[in-house]
Amino acid sequence: MNQIETIISKMTLEEKAALTTGATAWNTTPLAHLGVPRLFVADGPHGVRRVADADVMALEALAATCFPTASCTASSWDAALLSQMGQAIAEEAIALDVDVVLGPGVNMKRSPTCGRNFEYFSEDPLLAGEMAASYINGMQSRGVGTSLKHFAANNQEHRRLTASSELDERTLREIYLPAFEQAVKQAQPWTVMCCYNKVNGVYGSEHHQLLTEILKDEWGFEGLVVSDWGAVHDRVASLRGGLDLEMPGPRPLRSQAVVAAVRAGQLDEALLDESVRRILKIAFKAAETPKGGAPFDAAAHHALARKIAGEGMVLLKNNGLLPLKQPASLAVIGHAAVEAHFQGRGSSQITTTRVDEPLAELKKLAGGASISFCEGYPLDESQRPDMIAEAVAAAQAAEVALLYIALPTYKESEGYDRADLELTAQQVALIQAVTAAQPKSVVILNNGSAITMSAWLNGPAAVLEAWMMGQAGGGAIADVLFGVVNPSGKLAETFPLRLEDTPAYLNFPGELDVVRYGEGLFIGYRYYDARRQPVLFPFGYGLSYTSFAYSNLRLSSPAFHDVDGLTVSVDVTNTGSVTGKEIVQVYVHDQKASLVRPVKELKGFAKVELEPGETKTVSVALDFRAFAFYHTGYGQWISEDGDFDILVGASCADIRCSASAALQSTLNLPSILHRNSTFGDWMSDPRGKAIFGPVYQQIMQPIAAVLGRAEDGEISVETNAYLMSLPLVDVLEFPGLPLEKSPGEIIDNLLKQLAG
Ligand code: GLC
Repeated sequence: MNQIETIISKMTLEEKAALTTGATAWNTTPLAHLGVPRLFVADGPHGVRRVADADVMALEALAATCFPTASCTASSWDAALLSQMGQAIAEEAIALDVDVVLGPGVNMKRSPTCGRNFEYFSEDPLLAGEMAASYINGMQSRGVGTSLKHFAANNQEHRRLTASSELDERTLREIYLPAFEQAVKQAQPWTVMCCYNKVNGVYGSEHHQLLTEILKDEWGFEGLVVSDWGAVHDRVASLRGGLDLEMPGPRPLRSQAVVAAVRAGQLDEALLDESVRRILKIAFKAAETPKGGAPFDAAAHHALARKIAGEGMVLLKNNGLLPLKQPASLAVIGHAAVEAHFQGRGSSQITTTRVDEPLAELKKLAGGASISFCEGYPLDESQRPDMIAEAVAAAQAAEVALLYIALPTYKESEGYDRADLELTAQQVALIQAVTAAQPKSVVILNNGSAITMSAWLNGPAAVLEAWMMGQAGGGAIADVLFGVVNPSGKLAETFPLRLEDTPAYLNFPGELDVVRYGEGLFIGYRYYDARRQPVLFPFGYGLSYTSFAYSNLRLSSPAFHDVDGLTVSVDVTNTGSVTGKEIVQVYVHDQKASLVRPVKELKGFAKVELEPGETKTVSVALDFRAFAFYHTGYGQWISEDGDFDILVGASCADIRCSASAALQSTLNLPSILHRNSTFGDWMSDPRGKAIFGPVYQQIMQPIAAVLGRAEDGEISVETNAYLMSLPLVDVLEFPGLPLEKSPGEIIDNLLKQLAG
């Protein structure tokens, strides 16, 4: 018997129950007499938030590097960079005696107003899944665990502990689960954290379909499922659902309830043992990497944070003013220049090792330029024309004006959602006034998710989306402004023109604790494409200081089997004068499907660095799932024969080249006809039609006689449409049909033949 099974066999019921609930706010129960170590967890995801006292929920944490938050790192589209970040965070976790870091968050950005979007990667499942898998693999390669969160459909902060996300199975499978699925299958996170909310009426902490049937049984998740802090409402029900570890602890009454339930035969002890087994496995796995000891290299991690921030920033507009060419004078305007808005509020808040002040970092690269500063806007909603007047004067007196604008934390944070997508009125008025007075202006933004800009976008010569860029972001902004770094980031989320244009607008944040995902599959660019809705900046968009040309697109085959997939290759050339990186995006369009599908979906991407004039071939492999969709009738992902367009672009709205290929499905799908299938269903199912043929011949003439014929003697279009919409068993009830058996017997025989 292996070590874990031996331990389980020696544990008392009380010890098992105690182990499945936290011993404190941040660690599990050690069992010294059985050699079971404690597991210590700390918040992430963009750094280690290790509280000094495990007994207390939220306190000043120990110093660690605050890396850029997910909306920034996702905009790098650089999986390798996420791996590096994960490894660096692991080094800090080891130094701070932490076994598991609670991240990454991969919830889809259903609405840009979600207050926690700064902590999430994207509106696209593939991009989020790729980033998450790399982060997890990077961190766990160094012996520190992760926690993939929040499973699942936790896409708003409003009433997140009680609201029920109501969504159909296909939407769940194609949009809200794939990032989790990809991360589990490609990286096996040590833990998965359940969500606070309900999913279709069942709490995420008790959701057997999600936690056991899908996560553990279908996807093969081997780690432990931990609750979000305080997400468990009924410990016995959650154990039945597949929730292994409740946090925080201790919860003696709940442990007693678990013991009592086992003793009363209301909870199978084997379920409790399975949770204990998973916890022990992770605790021993964590113990394989000694923690504590040497401090981490703060300087090196700060430098890495600066590099990542520079890769994630997105140049949204540039009429040539950037990169700055050593202007003689600069007017720096905006509070965010002197107080970096580098992270979000809530459980992810890091106590930093240091923070780069944007203005100070700017000065280091500005050469001998004279630099003025003014606050530009207050830290509340008050409107201050005097501050605007001061800023206008400063801008007019300088060669270039730099506006550092941060979305206030009181508008965007964990715990609440935004009411709008606007900057503050003062910030909008400030930008309008300054850029009218000084056309050579740059707006630098710090925000966690999309904002609207139409009121002022025409004003500045350039706009840089710097996100919540981490503690070293001040330096990264200066790097980009002066061209030390050529911006290569691209949006991982759409920036809409208006809040009213957004997919979830009519169903967000729900009422009476019900949130209907009425937009279904159509979130983000999937929605704007389907509606042909103009946007401010599209998914995948981002400028560079150079330019790129795409050519010579080729596919590995003009026809292919779904299981063989398809390789897409394209040549990319740097047609500008400076080295740059391009993110090549591969979208797939299904020309014809039996169910509705988005116009196109991101199914691959690659980032490539090119010297001026250099050309490289970029290849992206597309597998079965790149072409498949989830069919709830079959209860699985399916492919269908047909032609697919492969669209290669610099953004979802900038397709540079395309080609088509014919897919041949190798699936041998069962028929999904049933007793109430319509006449039309039978006729459109090849096997159903073949089997049903003789019966068809028997009934069409008499039916035509009953329903009447059109002038040309055929059954009229409207009559045919009526017929095809009827369940076949009802059609067989028509009077006067020459049938030897009853309709029910005929249908049952047909279904038996189908099953055969
Ligand atoms: C919070 C967050 C979760 C975090 C946990 C511990 O409420 O939802 O992401 O890891 O509790 O702080």
